[in-house]
Order: sequence, then C-alpha cells, then structure tokens
Amino acid sequence: MGIVDRVIANSVPAIPRPVVRRISRRYMAGEDLEEAIGTVRDLNKQGCVATLDVLGESTKDRADAAGKLEQYKRVIDAVVENDLASGVSVKLTGLGLDLDEGLCRSNLEEVIVYAGERGRFVRVDMEDSSYTARTIRIVLDMHERHGNTGAVVQAYLRRSLGDVRLLAEAGVSVRLCKGIYVEPREVAYKGFDTVRQNFVLLLEELMKAGCYVGVATHDEYLVWHALRVSHELGIPKGGYEFQMLLGVDEQLRRILVEGGQKVRVYVPFGKDWYEYSTRRLKENPKIARYVAQDVVGG
Ligand code: FDA
Repeated sequence: MGIVDRVIANSVPAIPRPVVRRISRRYMAGEDLEEAIGTVRDLNKQGCVATLDVLGESTKDRADAAGKLEQYKRVIDAVVENDLASGVSVKLTGLGLDLDEGLCRSNLEEVIVYAGERGRFVRVDMEDSSYTARTIRIVLDMHERHGNTGAVVQAYLRRSLGDVRLLAEAGVSVRLCKGIYVEPREVAYKGFDTVRQNFVLLLEELMKAGCYVGVATHDEYLVWHALRVSHELGIPKGGYEFQMLLGVDEQLRRILVEGGQKVRVYVPFGKDWYEYSTRRLKENPKIARYVAQDVVGG
C-alpha cells in the first residue's frame, strides 16, 4: 500500500456518516428486514444462496442482547415465510459475550434451536482475537448439541492450524477467510503472501479431513486453489461452497455460479451500518480513495 493510500485508509473513520452511507450502500441490504429479504430473493434468482447478518456488534446491556435475539428470530421467520435459501450469521458480542458468557450462550442456543426447527443454519462470525478461544469453544459445544452451527477461521491467525484440526475432527462446517481485524504480530501473520499461503494450508487441511468448507474470499488466487484442491481430492461441486460479501466482485460471483459452483452471499443489514462500513472501507484503499474523492468533490 502506498503512503497516499495508507493516509486515506487511516482517515476513513473521520469521513462524515452521510458520505460513508452513500458509498457503502452497495455493501448493505438496507436498514430494514423487508429490504434485506428483497436482496436475498434477488440473489436466489441469480443462483446464489445467502446468509443474513443483523448489523451491530458489542451489546451494551441485556436488553440489547435480548433485542438482537428477537431480531434474529424475525429474520428466520421471514426467510421461512418467503421460502428463501438463506441461513443467518451471528456475532457473539451482539448476543452478549462482553456482558456474560452464560447469557450469550443461552441467547445463541435459542437462535440455533429456533433456526434448527425451521431447517436453517447458523454461522458464528469470528471477531477479534480476544474472542477466538471462547468462540471456538462455544461453537464446538453448540455443534455437538444441535448440529446446525458453523465456525469461522481466520487465516491470518497463528493459532488457526490448531483450530481447524479441532473443528474438522468434530465435523464442524468452517468458513475460512483471511481475517479483517487489526491484530498484533504476536497473534497474526502480517505479510499478504504469508496469509495467502496459510489460507491454502488450512484449506487443504480442512478439505482433506472431509470438512464442509465455506471458502470466503474474493481473491482469485485462493478461489483457484480451492478449485484445485477440490479437484485433486475428488470433492464434487456442492461438497464445499464459495462465500462472498454483498457488493464485492459480482463478476467473479457470476463466473462461479455459471460454472456450477455453490456461492453464498453475506448479506448485512440493519441500523448499525456505520461500524461495518468503515471497517470495509478501511480494508479497501481503492474504495477509501473513492470516498475521499466524493468528500472533496461534494
Ligand atoms: P483481498 O482482501 O486480497 O481481496 C481480494 C480482492 O477482492 C481485492 O483485490 C478487491 O478487488 C476485492 N475486495 C476485497 N474486499 C473488498 C471490499 N471490501 N470492497 C471491494 N472490493 C473488495 N472476517 C473476519 O475476520 N471474520 C468473519 O467472520 C468474516 N466473515 C466473512 C464472510 C464472508 C462471506 C467474506 C467474503 C469475508 C468475511 N470476512 C470475515 C472478511 C475476510 O476476512 C476478509 O477481510 C475479506 O474477505 C477480504 O479478503 P479477501 O480474501 O477477499 O482478499
């Protein structure tokens, strides 16, 4: 990343909310459930499945966490009523992990049981490394009790090889991604190529162990490796899936769908869009540059 890009990326949080909102519209399915359902319906028509995420991270109190639980139930109801191909993605801090682990477990379990009774899957997003151990532990436990629960592993974390072995052995479905949080070097690999190589290593480990993998990336080099490994191991299309974020590289998404691959799109929606959007804008300096131009250009 060049110095200009770095300055722009680091300045993103200072960008006014209305501008962030305008630019990040393509990454979100609006503020309301109705809009999100419309987006999933369109994606299903395009041959993609989805996972719905109600935006908003760490909850401030028990009432907030209870509210998030109810929101997820409404999402699952709407998915079922509209006969859509979609699961949900949840963040444990949204369900109260910062308040009380027991409360969070009980909220999560309620979402999982509710979804399970309606034939839907719950993916537990992975947050920053201070939550990794607890999240893996909780997901393993929920998977054992209910089945319809999946984990996320971040390829930038040094610990991830151990985690994928544990998860694969327990038969947990894993979404593999590079990782989006800023982590100290002690816990995360920093080099772009190192993270890519670790992604490939983890992917091979998971696929060889017979794990159902959600290959969550827009990096075509990694997409190619997933196709290579599945080919070498004789895993048929649908024995794994690609996962992409709403609004990112729709061309690659189309190419994969037309090639008969299963593709799931992550569909975030809700009122707490600012934090999600600024994280994505910081991640991609090209978009941050576009934001900066937008501010300057008015
Ligand atoms: P990389 O960042 O190298 O991007 C490859 C190419 O894709 C870029 O050149 C660019 O063109 C395009 N691109 C990538 N991101 C873009 C963006 N925001 N806007 C526009 N273009 C973009 N992380 C995490 O820590 N916990 C989690 O639970 C999840 N969950 C998750 C679900 C799904 C479905 C996806 C796809 C990703 C996540 N992530 C995540 C985020 C993930 O860790 C990672 O930060 C991003 O996917 C970007 O990494 P890529 O592998 O796409 O490669």
